[in-house]
Amino acid sequence: MFMKWSVKRAAETSEPELIEEPEIVSEPEASPSATQDRAESEPNELALKISIHRELLDRINLSALDKMPRASIRSEVAVIINEMLTQQRQTLNRGEREALVDDVLDELLGLGPLEPLLQDESITDILVNGPKIVFIERDGLLERADTTFKDDRHLMRIIQKIVSAVGRRVDESSPFVDARLADGSRVNAIVAPLAVDGSLLSIRKFAKKRIGIERLVELESMPRAMADVLSAVVQSRRNVLISGGTGSGKTTLLNAMSSFIDEAERIVTIEDSAELQLQQSHVARLETRPANIEGKGEVGQRDLVKNALRMRPDRIIVGEVRAGEAFDMLQAMNTGHDGSMTTVHANTPRDALSRIEQMIGMSGIDMPARSARAQIAAAINVVVQVSRLSDGRRKVVSLSEITGMEGETITMQEIFRFKITGRDENGQVQGKFEASGIRPKFLSHAISAGINLSAELFRPDYVMD
Ligand SMILES: Nc1ncnc2c1ncn2[C@@H]1O[C@H](COP(=O)(O)OP(=O)(O)O)[C@@H](O)[C@H]1O
Ligand SMILES: [Mg+2]
Repeated sequence: MFMKWSVKRAAETSEPELIEEPEIVSEPEASPSATQDRAESEPNELALKISIHRELLDRINLSALDKMPRASIRSEVAVIINEMLTQQRQTLNRGEREALVDDVLDELLGLGPLEPLLQDESITDILVNGPKIVFIERDGLLERADTTFKDDRHLMRIIQKIVSAVGRRVDESSPFVDARLADGSRVNAIVAPLAVDGSLLSIRKFAKKRIGIERLVELESMPRAMADVLSAVVQSRRNVLISGGTGSGKTTLLNAMSSFIDEAERIVTIEDSAELQLQQSHVARLETRPANIEGKGEVGQRDLVKNALRMRPDRIIVGEVRAGEAFDMLQAMNTGHDGSMTTVHANTPRDALSRIEQMIGMSGIDMPARSARAQIAAAINVVVQVSRLSDGRRKVVSLSEITGMEGETITMQEIFRFKITGRDENGQVQGKFEASGIRPKFLSHAISAGINLSAELFRPDYVMD
């Protein structure tokens, strides 16, 4: 027994995502073992939700929905649900009734079972591995959520709803797609046949409030002295590369460090999906565009970096370099756009440099390895490595300075590092920040730029926290 949106109804509504909604299956299937404990109450609850859904469709003017505030829709829905519960002689207590209204509303207006997770601000990532397995990340640690979808079709319907909002669709011919929710959260969906055990959905939620430098110090992601050093590095216009793994805090640190840029400067930012929240008033933000359904109209980071150079920027910030645009970014750094910054996915500062070298290769420019390295050595001054430790906390684990070339090799010296000493009884990583004792070149640079930075900070016996 299926319930379908009639053609007439679909034609009446102006809400495209409701037209997309194909069907709600009313026959509950046996729940897999993971949800066995809930299987008892499920069929009843589900049948109830479905009949409510149907009645709602008959009674609510769908095309008016998008103009109504959620609160008024909620009260209308609540009235209908109450009537239906009485009719069907269902007794639900107040809490159960409220929860039912929320579920029905989430399904009608939002992203169904994902809604509570999207609204919970303590959750940073939502990872759906097929309809019955959902993980969330909180405080840097993954945990299983008790959220489930009815079946893969239900999950697919939610995925279509997400991607249709950005003019995309997912199906066998385009089985993976990147999208963004209205609040800026980033979404990747990959479905069968590429996803073997049911559709996979990965959501990186948009942090409403970015973590700033002060907060990073409070969280012990870096000591105060390191924040002072980073401030001097940015203000004296050194070119910075932030390196780290996925979710290690690269974008967060880039955003925080950008606060040291002078208000008077013109900053052009380039991102694949706009995440940075610069506080300065003179910021020109650019975002790439993927190809449309016909495979046309793509504008990549490389095009945007080239374009940015014609926009009279004082500094260029590229959210993350992934390919050929790294070459153009280095060119920009080498041609007067000092104080530019970017991030790269790499596990060590040395690895970050080889990644950039590979990316120069991807730009299609045929350059001998030594010249490529010379370009890198000339362009980048400081590499900051961030890392997500095994206890989930994020830290700046190294700050290094590029000093030049020796033969074929880029020379680099580490100025600060986070040295791990062990773990406490709660599994929390123990360690301390220390200076290597090397007096960095950027110190003299900062001093000549009139920035007050104590040489004391770089002594190995300086207590950093
Ligand atoms: N130092 C930090 N302490 C705590 N949480 C952090 C820290 N840095 C980043 N986060 C959080 O970790 C998640 C991933 O951070 P993000 O900067 O986007 O990582 P990346 O750019 O490396 O993928 C975000 O939810 C962010 O708020
Ligand atoms: Mg990032």
